[in-house]
Amino acid sequence: MNEFQQVGSGNRRSTGRRRRSTAQQWLNELLVTQLDLRGSGLNVVDLGGGTGGIAAALAEAGHTVLVIDPSPDALAATQRRAAERELSDRMTAVQGDTGTLAEIVPPGSVDVFTFHRVLDRREGTAEALAAMATTLKPGGLLSIVINQRLPWVWQQAEAGNFDVAREILQDGGLLDRPVLLDLLAAGGWEVLAEHGVGVIADQVPEAAAEGHSDELLELEAAAAGNSAYLESATRLHVLATHSGAAAD
Ligand SMILES: C[S@@+](CC[C@H](N)C(=O)[O-])C[C@H]1O[C@@H](n2cnc3c(N)ncnc32)[C@H](O)[C@@H]1O
Repeated sequence: MNEFQQVGSGNRRSTGRRRRSTAQQWLNELLVTQLDLRGSGLNVVDLGGGTGGIAAALAEAGHTVLVIDPSPDALAATQRRAAERELSDRMTAVQGDTGTLAEIVPPGSVDVFTFHRVLDRREGTAEALAAMATTLKPGGLLSIVINQRLPWVWQQAEAGNFDVAREILQDGGLLDRPVLLDLLAAGGWEVLAEHGVGVIADQVPEAAAEGHSDELLELEAAAAGNSAYLESATRLHVLATHSGAAAD
């Protein structure tokens, strides 16, 4: 087990947030700890960063974060968040997407990409991974989170949407762990660590979690790195690196 995988197994800080944000809180803490192992003051690009929640956590940890997102509303929310938390010197936002990344960011200039829940399908993901590999410094990091296909089937079935559940089940173009690992390997990425996100927290009813947010967060942290949960977790986090050399 390497240092990036190991940080998922414990020693998390306790903050007492509500259950709904437990899994995201856990993910932010994991990422901050993993980046700490790489160094301080890293140059991070949060591609598809949305309203800047992850960017703010990383900027608060001392990194410089550029959020790139196609949505003007998301960018405005990111800028508001940066101003409110007095992070505007380390957290900026610009309009763009996976297709225009190379026009915004010079080649070989980024220490870390975060690419969380941006694309749901195999189509487009290989191209996005290639664009990030080009703009990453050799040996830089990619933090990618995907919504997984199979837990989505359960969610739809649980809601009684059996036709939708069957369509999702049979749609091999949707991302899940095997598809993502395949795309990463084909693009020349080396996986450093894998964690489930929402492994436990997403399954716990609000009433059961009430008043127990710290215990739930501890349990989420303990289960996240368990390989048996990786394919059934609602979301999957993979930390990967790229040498900068073109894939075969
Ligand atoms: C579900 S949100 C996730 C936001 C954030 N990454 C997070 O995990 O909280 C997806 C975001 O991806 C953005 N997005 C969609 N297609 C994109 C693309 N091709 N390139 C970059 N961002 C994209 C959307 O505008 C949206 O803000």
